[in-house]
Amino acid sequence: MSNPVKVPLATKPMSILQSLGSARRNVLSILPEIATRQPMVSGKTGIRWHMVMDPPSLKRVLRDKLEDYPKSGVTKTLLRPAIGNSLFIAEGTHWQWQRRATAPTFALRNVRALAPVMTRAAEATCTRIHATQIGPADMYAQMVTTTFQVISDVTLSGDSEFDPQTVHKAIDAYIASAGRVTLADILGLPAWVPRGGWFKSRKALYDMRRIADATIEARRRSGPRETPDLLDHLLAAQDPETGRKMTTSELRDNLLTFIVAGHETTALTLSWALYLCAFDTVKQEKARAEAQSVLSGRAATQDDLAALPYITAIIEETLRLYPPAALVSRTAKAKDTLCGRQIHPGDTMMIPIYTLHRHHMLWDEPDAFQPERFMNGNGPERFAYLPFGDGPRVCIGQSFAMQEAVLILATLLSRFKFSLTEKHPEPVMILTLRPEGGVWLHAESA
Ligand code: HEM
Repeated sequence: MSNPVKVPLATKPMSILQSLGSARRNVLSILPEIATRQPMVSGKTGIRWHMVMDPPSLKRVLRDKLEDYPKSGVTKTLLRPAIGNSLFIAEGTHWQWQRRATAPTFALRNVRALAPVMTRAAEATCTRIHATQIGPADMYAQMVTTTFQVISDVTLSGDSEFDPQTVHKAIDAYIASAGRVTLADILGLPAWVPRGGWFKSRKALYDMRRIADATIEARRRSGPRETPDLLDHLLAAQDPETGRKMTTSELRDNLLTFIVAGHETTALTLSWALYLCAFDTVKQEKARAEAQSVLSGRAATQDDLAALPYITAIIEETLRLYPPAALVSRTAKAKDTLCGRQIHPGDTMMIPIYTLHRHHMLWDEPDAFQPERFMNGNGPERFAYLPFGDGPRVCIGQSFAMQEAVLILATLLSRFKFSLTEKHPEPVMILTLRPEGGVWLHAESA
């Protein structure tokens, strides 16, 4: 195989029923192959929709005309039962104050101070992988454990009331049942039409909320930590206009947003990066040489980041080939023209980050794994590369995630050689772009 695994994109138009069947298995399989060649693809499946891959139009949708392109109805329908009207899906002033309240935790200076949590998690991961060396191990499962540890330390200082296993199982059950795109979503039915997965995920949601509420109440009783964590910041946050604080349900919804958005995505990035390194062992060796010369046996820390440009480029290239948020969407609120095409209020705007990142007009050999394309200031055109989105709603955890991924990958590559097994991962999008079946790799001491 000359290129790493990819999603087989549709080469012929699909009927609604075909789209439904494909989308339930893998949302990305409804993307047409021409979305890697054309700046924009439009159609009608009950509702009018547009897939936008043209960087200037993406800039308009995500940055210049933010108010005219709010998050889509589908996004809100899928996520609201789990995370309410929290930062991720709120709009207007309600979004703004929540963003302001949480921004300090993710400011670069504070993210740097969180590096020791990540270094500790990298060390613990090495110990676990070391124990599995007799046979192949699922690196996706390993990375989920790692990043979950990091996010629970950062949000809740590893609070004793908080049981990561239960919350994690609940999140998984919710994503597995409600995260699949349903016929209602494809047909663009309104949000109040019940979706199939909801019933199955009710118990998972109930568990998640119960645990989050108990954690919030316990913290209210105990007062803030000496070094405030994200929950303390949320508890202290005040709307600058009204002076009000977040209610328990707003606190809970944001807490769950950060826990869900803040670990799955980074675990996916690391798992896909390990797969790519095992796929191309020459590049893996080059990365290991860099990591070993910088780290000399210890786990990576914040001070090492600047000396790890190749490892950083591997993470950037991984986010290009397997962007965890591979498809984001908006609903047009006003008339507009993009790429000479009319946009009507109510149209669904799809931003297929997956096909944008593999677009033939924007990338050389788009399906190839070439971290070098991110080296020596060779970065891509700004709106051609959107693993974290862009504009005011850009991922708030971007520097956090990059720092975590680089520190952990560098530590792992300095200690282990990873090689493929016969089982290759299959990229399947269920809310995020996951490796179906896991990422099974051999790991031997380097
Ligand atoms: C590699 C890891 C990550 C990726 C690829 C990623 C990707 C994204 C993307 C694409 C968006 C924008 C979605 C849109 O425009 O519709 C987003 C938003 C967001 N992300 Fe991330 N994310 C990652 C890590 C994190 C982390 C670590 C956190 C928090 C700890 C986080 C929290 C959020 C939140 C709260 C938003 C909503 C921001 C807003 O609307 O103001 N993400 N993320």
